[in-house]
Formats: sequence, C-alpha cells, structure tokens
Amino acid sequence: MDHFQVKNGVLHAEDVALPAIAEAVGTPVYVYSEATLRRHARVFREALSILPKTHFAFAVKSNPNLAVLRVLKEEGFGADVVSIGEARRALAAGIPGADIVFSGVGKTDEEMAEALESGIGQFNLESEEEGVELARIAHEKGLTATAALRVNPDVDAGTHDKISTGKADNKFGVPYFSAKDIFARLSALPGMNLRGLAVHIGSQITNLDPSRAAFAKMGVLLADLRAAGHTITHLDLGGGLGVPYRVGEQLPGPDDYAAMVAEVTKDWDVTVMFEPGRVITGNSGVLVSKVVRVKRGANNPFVVVDAAMNDLARPAMYDAWHDCVAVRPSGETMTANVVGPICESSDTFARNREMDAVTTGDLVAFRTAGAYGATMANTYNSRPLVPEVLVSGDRYAVVANRIEPATILAAEQVPDWLK
Ligand code: LLP
Repeated sequence: MDHFQVKNGVLHAEDVALPAIAEAVGTPVYVYSEATLRRHARVFREALSILPKTHFAFAVKSNPNLAVLRVLKEEGFGADVVSIGEARRALAAGIPGADIVFSGVGKTDEEMAEALESGIGQFNLESEEEGVELARIAHEKGLTATAALRVNPDVDAGTHDKISTGKADNKFGVPYFSAKDIFARLSALPGMNLRGLAVHIGSQITNLDPSRAAFAKMGVLLADLRAAGHTITHLDLGGGLGVPYRVGEQLPGPDDYAAMVAEVTKDWDVTVMFEPGRVITGNSGVLVSKVVRVKRGANNPFVVVDAAMNDLARPAMYDAWHDCVAVRPSGETMTANVVGPICESSDTFARNREMDAVTTGDLVAFRTAGAYGATMANTYNSRPLVPEVLVSGDRYAVVANRIEPATILAAEQVPDWLK
C-alpha cells in the first residue's frame, strides 16, 4: 500500500496534488511520500520482529537522498553502503557509524581507512585479499576491523541476470567451498574481528525458494565454522525482496519473507542482519513528467515525455516495467509507446502499452520509481540532473535541486594547447 492516490480526479502524493509540485519545481521531478517510506520501513521491521535478534541496514544505493536517509534513521534503520560516498551520506543523515555495514567488491585502501576512522560497524568482506588488506590497515592504525565474510552460495535467484549476484560466476563474495578455510585464515589476523557471514543473491526477488536455499547453505556453513571453534555472532542475509511493479501483481511480502527466514534461522543463535532497499523505497516514489507531444507512429502513437532514460534508467537497462499513469485520468485509455527525447531507441519507457489516454501538456507519473530511480540518473544528452521532492502530509520540500547543464559545463575546461 502507498500514499499516491487519485483524489478529486487528480493524483496526489499524500495530501499534495502532483500538478502543484510540477508547477512549482518543474518536470521531470521525483516525488517521494514520507508516510509511505515510514510505512514500508515499519512493515518490514515488524514482520521480522518474530526473530529474537535483528539489525536493519537500509541499502543506501536504492535511494541515497539525505532526507530519505533521515526518515529511515528515525525509523531505526542503520545503513548498508558500498562506497565511502554513501558512508558519508549515512553519517551526514545522523546514522551512527556503528549501525553502518560497508559492502562492495572494490573497497579501496583509502575508503577502508576512512571507514575505520569513522567507526563503521561491519565490513562485509568480498574476498580474502580484501580482508588481508583491511586487517593490515586497521592494525597499523591500532584499530580492529569488525567484519563478516560474504559467501557466494552459488544459487540462482531467478531474477534479471544483471541484478543477480549469488551464482558462482558472479563477482560477489568468496566461493562457498573455500569459505571455511578463508574464514579461518582471516580470523587469525591481527586487526581483524571476523564475527559473521554475509550473503546476498540478487535484487527484485519474487520467489522465496532460492533465498531459502541460499540461507540454508549459510546455516550449514555456520555450524561447520562453530564446530571448528569459531565464534559467530552475526549473519547478514542481505536485501533483495521484490516489489510489485504492476497493479494487482501478487508477490511474497515481508510476512512471507519473515516466516521463511524464521524457519531457516531458528537454531542459529545470531543477530540476523538485513539490507533491504527496494522494498522500502520502491513504491515510495514516482517520477512526474510532462507530455511534450503525441506523435503519430507507423502503428501506435508515440507519447514523447520530458523525462528520459537519463532520469529513469531501469526500462533501458533491465527492460523494467514502470506503470505510466495520467496525473488527471479521464477514464479513457489508449495504446501507445511512451518515449523520452534522447537520441537512441533504448529511451523507451513503454511499448504498445494500453494506458490512460494523454495528450500534449498532460502530466504523467511513472510509478514505483523510488528505488534505483534518481540515484541512477545522469546528464546524458546534456540534460539537467533531475530534482527530488519529499511530501509529508500537506507539506512538500525540494530535497535535491535540479542541477542545470550550465553547472556541469562550468566544471569543464579547454586545455591551454587548444585555446
Ligand atoms: N545488499 C547488497 C549487498 C546489494 O548488492 C543490494 C543491491 C542490496 C543489499 C539491496 O537490494 P534490494 O533490497 O534493493 O533488492 N539497479 C538495479 C538493482 C541493483 C541492486 C544492487 N544490489 C535495479 O534498478 O533493479
């Protein structure tokens, strides 16, 4: 459930009519609903409260906006970060270092050093090489790095190939069969407090069986490591729970996920950690765009909107579906292609889609755009960087400005020899 509803014929975010925001801020613009963010955060946490010990680290990559992070901090979430830039954002939002998990296959020495100094709570190690380096840096600083070893369970999450991370040939984690030996070697290093294991098999997961299989393998490894005398207090199960992108889509929700996790982890006696992203932010945001014109096509018409693949990359990158609805629905429908102005055919949001009828000057909203939306935006075709707005009840505020092409141009220069 979300707080984007049609009231008096106009799509609202909570109590704010989207045309009011479009008028004041311009389009395209991302609009987030604070009540929806809070609701999703609470539903997820409450579902998992059936476990005795938990820790929630919001996957910052899904929506790193400072205001969004602040809301989730207030909801008791820590952060899962994959770069020092994300760590700095989480800290700036007031999330304590101790509640931050640092994941990612390419942590540099500089990033690890800064994270250690910031008191980051847990490093999720993606390789033995990284663990050796982290221990050395920590030891040299007279610090101890708290860490978990990310294991690649070789399980196919059954999601889009580009967002699948748990198969043996994916770059993530250490191979399952060598995890026990690597754990033993890393945990003996000075500067290293290796306290747990981590796993994450992919994103937009819509069937719980692969996760169940991966977690069960982690349980076997946990028992093996304990039998070998290791102390394991934390097990990080990553993120990945999918969200409905289409009206009426029936997917496993947080309660189903929690029941599965409770069953698999019942004898583990660890703090179970979670890194949800999309399930918290996905349906908390929409991308509002204006129809520039409707152009006749050979078959169906092209609805050319002022948002493009640089603002919302998911359809072009993953063939992802985002519902496209009229902000003032007339009740009429049409079959159309929805495209942006960018000069390549991948700049297509919908093909031959039955949708609300719209015409030049109308506003449309792409739904479920709160996760992996603005954060993946860029300035391709010298377009502005899209702004973001947060709504709370009948208030709203711009929480990220539109960055104009002139600002980006000002950071470029012609070298002396070309002057
Ligand atoms: N933890 C780790 C280690 C991850 O790699 C990810 C996502 C998450 C947690 C959060 O996953 P979530 O709960 O959001 O599914 N740009 C793609 C998604 C990339 C996901 C990358 N990792 C998209 O737009 O679908």
